[in-house]
Amino acid sequence: MVVIGGDGIGPEVISSTMRVMEALSPDLDSSYADMGQGSYETNGAYLPAETLRMLEEADACLFGAITSSNDPALESPLLFLRSHFDLYVNVRPVRRLAPDLGLVDLDLIIFRENTEGMYTREERREGDSIILERRVTEGVCRRLVRFARDQCLKEGRGKLTCVHKANVLRNSDGMFRRVFMEEMKDSGLDVAEMLVDATAAALISRPEEMDCLVTLNLYGDILSDEAAALVGGIGLAPSANIGDHMAIFEPIHGSAPDIQGKDLANPVGALLSGSMMLRYLGKPEEASAIEGAVRLTLLEGERTRDAGGSCGTHAFTDQVIARLPRT
Ligand code: NAD
Ligand code: IPM
Ligand code: MN
Repeated sequence: MVVIGGDGIGPEVISSTMRVMEALSPDLDSSYADMGQGSYETNGAYLPAETLRMLEEADACLFGAITSSNDPALESPLLFLRSHFDLYVNVRPVRRLAPDLGLVDLDLIIFRENTEGMYTREERREGDSIILERRVTEGVCRRLVRFARDQCLKEGRGKLTCVHKANVLRNSDGMFRRVFMEEMKDSGLDVAEMLVDATAAALISRPEEMDCLVTLNLYGDILSDEAAALVGGIGLAPSANIGDHMAIFEPIHGSAPDIQGKDLANPVGALLSGSMMLRYLGKPEEASAIEGAVRLTLLEGERTRDAGGSCGTHAFTDQVIARLPRT
């Protein structure tokens, strides 16, 4: 497993996660690598060749966050890795972890397309316009929907909703919707569809109807931050970028430069990403141990400031470690 802290609060939440994982499994096989703006400033590369080499040989990666560059000439290493390793689905479970956290009660999984849509980065100038190539590919939609469907069945979920904008984007989103309907026929799950704008509202006004969502790249990016904020904050939500041969696990939040170095970062998104990684690596007991300890810590009212508490990152992590099952 490769561990990348990245920039801003990335290294802080990853160090918290490594403390918890090492308390649980002291023999964890991990090697650290650089990526991000800090790496660019010190090594001249957002994604050093050595990091890519290590990832090529790894079964999984735990990643914090990086600060993006505004320079169009510099490719985002995270988007590069999602494409390079063909990590075609971004799994984002969003659930309220304690009854007094957030504004609404949600327990959903967002399956987000992860390699194309608005994220092709193929932009070109024509006159005074910038044209973006938005790509939606039938085969990509099909394997995304199949993954989401199979995962819902595996996890005993009842309903999968296709979130799209086919009323406007009739060819591209219309094709995604059609593929969804084809793949869901006879699945045994409740099949639903919803326009993305209506979904943004329904997350707030009809949370009890929301179960699992499968959607295109940018819609999933936006809805996952919204859903996470509704259950207590973007610092609480984990994610898994999954491909057929490799996976990268990361909290959904960014590098949060506004709170960097202040011991204010909420490590829960990273901790739950670590838990998802352990499950992926065939360690379900360790995965459940982390999830259980995090939940218990929050239920007992220990929280970082963003979630309404007064614990620092370090003290919160101590509380989680104290609640790990004793072996
Ligand atoms: P952000 O997620 O970094 O922060 C948004 C707000 O949420 C900030 O007020 C921040 O303090 C707060 N926040 C985020 N995570 C938190 C946590 N764990 N605990 C407590 N508070 C938390 O988003 P942004 O400010 O829009 O972006 C900052 C940088 O991060 C940008 O360069 C952006 O491109 C990048 N980014 C990177 C990733 C990634 O590497 N996976 C993801 C999102 C954004
Ligand atoms: C996320 C982030 C990334 C995205 C950015 C940093 C490229 O917001 O993982 O949610 O848009 O996918
Ligand atoms: Mn995002």
